[in-house]
Amino acid sequence: MGTDGRGIVPEAASIVLRLSCSLMAFRILSVVGARPNFMKVAAICEAIKRVNSLASVEQIHHILVHTGQHYDSNMSDSFFDDLELPKPDISLGVGSASHSVQTARIMERFESVVLKEQPHLVLVVGDVNSTAACAMVAKKTWCPGGKDKKDFIPKLAHVEAGLRSFDRTMPEEINRIVTDSVSDYLFTTEESANQNLLREGIPENRIFFVGNVMIDTLLRHRSKAQESTILQDLQLADGQEVKPYAILTLHRPANVDDKQVFSEMLDSFLDISRHMPVIFPAHPRTLKQIQDENLSDYFVDHLVQGSEPRYSRLRIRLVPPLGYLDFLRLMSEARVVLTDSGGIQEETTILGVPCITLRDSTERPVTLEHGTNVLVGSSPERIIREFNRLSVSGQKQLNRSPRYWDGNAAKRIIRVLVDDFCLSDH
Ligand code: UD1
Repeated sequence: MGTDGRGIVPEAASIVLRLSCSLMAFRILSVVGARPNFMKVAAICEAIKRVNSLASVEQIHHILVHTGQHYDSNMSDSFFDDLELPKPDISLGVGSASHSVQTARIMERFESVVLKEQPHLVLVVGDVNSTAACAMVAKKTWCPGGKDKKDFIPKLAHVEAGLRSFDRTMPEEINRIVTDSVSDYLFTTEESANQNLLREGIPENRIFFVGNVMIDTLLRHRSKAQESTILQDLQLADGQEVKPYAILTLHRPANVDDKQVFSEMLDSFLDISRHMPVIFPAHPRTLKQIQDENLSDYFVDHLVQGSEPRYSRLRIRLVPPLGYLDFLRLMSEARVVLTDSGGIQEETTILGVPCITLRDSTERPVTLEHGTNVLVGSSPERIIREFNRLSVSGQKQLNRSPRYWDGNAAKRIIRVLVDDFCLSDH
């Protein structure tokens, strides 16, 4: 396995030296589509930028494609600004649709991009529909005009490979399995992922244990997030003093699509709001459910009425989806985070903030073993019990950083890819 020895942090200069032996620029095409993709690809962009900045001519030609799976300004554009991501070179504008239609639309539009751009490598991250759709296209497209004018199929890299919840009712689990099964380079974030891939018969030499690019981005932006005024904007801080509060994020179909399940969970969040404000940056699909199922009595629009005492208890405080820096700041100071997201389990692990995960399984078990995460599912009793337990034990939790979650994962990834590119007959 390409795991051990990968912990070494490669110098950008050594990568440039390696690439200077190649006769052509290494063409990498990276894909983003949905909110959790942006922070992962930001780390890759940064690592590539470092390499190119040290060379006299561009060594890695990086093409960024946005499928448009997420398109609202606060689900997409604000992340480009906060993370200083370059504007996408190509936008596919697919928008929302059923899973199959969305996947098919992405595949149809992405195929012509691959044919035109002829990348040596397509890089996909995470587990959203855009990830699986573009992975399949990459491995089914013969590009004209490779070495000696021979047609070639691009290589495929999957960043955050091997995670498994073992719950095949989750669309993300299907996306992970499909993507991993066709990838040439499987970059993993934790030991469980290496084991999952080996068990599924992935050859050892395709698996690279490099760490977590989402944490690269978190560590890079942590001090900048301190400048965010979100705590003052949401009246959660008085001068330097931060009041106790909880954050809630919830968007998975298993939690919000069934009115009974959703409203029972909301009852337990109302209970928690008796102890401290519950701030809920709501995902568009959750907001739609709230409106369609007439559940708005549970909530107060925090920006309009949050400071009025008669609203301050017994209502969940609704705010729009937040940008990256604001959410990072909000998460850093929270007493507890209640969530059904995947990435937030990892981020709270590094921040040392208790995380109550509103799911029965996690594809990120290292956050349970090393981090601050605990699984409670959607049962109101378990949510309340865990909240009470945490309230007694106090705020920050002892956590150990998982291996290689050190801010250098993207550098390791680029080193592996460049080494192979230079050795290959591209
Ligand atoms: C997707 C990912 C999920 C990830 C989540 C993060 C898949 C299968 N799921 O779920 O893993 O945790 O992103 O946010 O890819 N909508 C808008 N504006 C937007 C985007 C979506 O209004 O910018 C609404 C639409 O009504 C859409 C719904 O949200 O139908 C769901 O969006 P979609 O991209 O299909 O899935 P998510 O639930 O966001």
